[in-house]
Amino acid sequence: MSLTPFHGRLGASHLDEARSKVTTSTLRELKLRHEPITCLTAYDYAAARLVDEAGIDIVLVGDSLAQAVLGYENTLSVTMDEMLHHVKAVRRGVRRALLVADMPFGSYQVDSKSALANAARFVKEGGAEAVKIEGGEKRAELIRQIIDAEIPVVGHIGLTPQSVHAMGGYKVQGKSLSGIEQLMRDAVSLDRAGVALLVLEGIPREVAAMITAEVGTPTIGIGAGPECDGQVLVFHDLLNLTFAPPAKFVRRYGDAAALITGAVRAFREDVKSHQYPSDEESYHLPKETKAGLDTVLARKRAMRR
Ligand code: KIV
Repeated sequence: MSLTPFHGRLGASHLDEARSKVTTSTLRELKLRHEPITCLTAYDYAAARLVDEAGIDIVLVGDSLAQAVLGYENTLSVTMDEMLHHVKAVRRGVRRALLVADMPFGSYQVDSKSALANAARFVKEGGAEAVKIEGGEKRAELIRQIIDAEIPVVGHIGLTPQSVHAMGGYKVQGKSLSGIEQLMRDAVSLDRAGVALLVLEGIPREVAAMITAEVGTPTIGIGAGPECDGQVLVFHDLLNLTFAPPAKFVRRYGDAAALITGAVRAFREDVKSHQYPSDEESYHLPKETKAGLDTVLARKRAMRR
């Protein structure tokens, strides 16, 4: 096999692109340089392209796919096959960002053999560059095994939505001294296991800051305050596409719901009032065919008289 770098055969713009490809090492460097890391979810080709081309560092195909796109009540119902379907679509739209696939509920809790097989499916069939697993200390051994299989893992601690029933709802974690102690143990054990990134969800800012200072792994916050090494939001939250009041930490950067509703209503009105399509938006016969057709129609009309 040739060891010539892949970008050696490409043109200048592709060369720049290949150079700036985000890898797990890039993220460590960003942490060391105190440069904030950006991450957004995406679930389809179009969104993935837009997010990637806007320069976001990490694209996560989150299991939030369940509510955001598939209309499930929570993340527990989404399956491996549904996740894979969307990871493949996102893969086709992402060139620069690191692509992370979220392991859905039930895909890694049963036993380590099936967890490894499912993680490998995301890489082999979906083209993911890392997988994300919810849970702290108690997942450290499994995470080690997946990393041993050459698959980078993103940890996720704090408010872990797949534990909604065990937690008794979506509650901010780490508010008590014992809660803080547990979160620190979770963070340190995943850091030692070698995770590439650590998502901190729904924890007090002060605790996220302590974890971020303690671990070498870059931390990515969602509802965890500004001291994390980076921030992640759900694409549909960012754009007001969720049909529900946003959580405290969500900032709406656009109103896609208003944009889509306005466009759809305008289309409906135009069709109902014969304003769409116009003559300019229609195809026409070539001149000679039109002349021939007019002659035929005139002859037919004359015969009917
Ligand atoms: O599924 C998801 O979107 C996530 C992020 C919120 C981190 O896990």
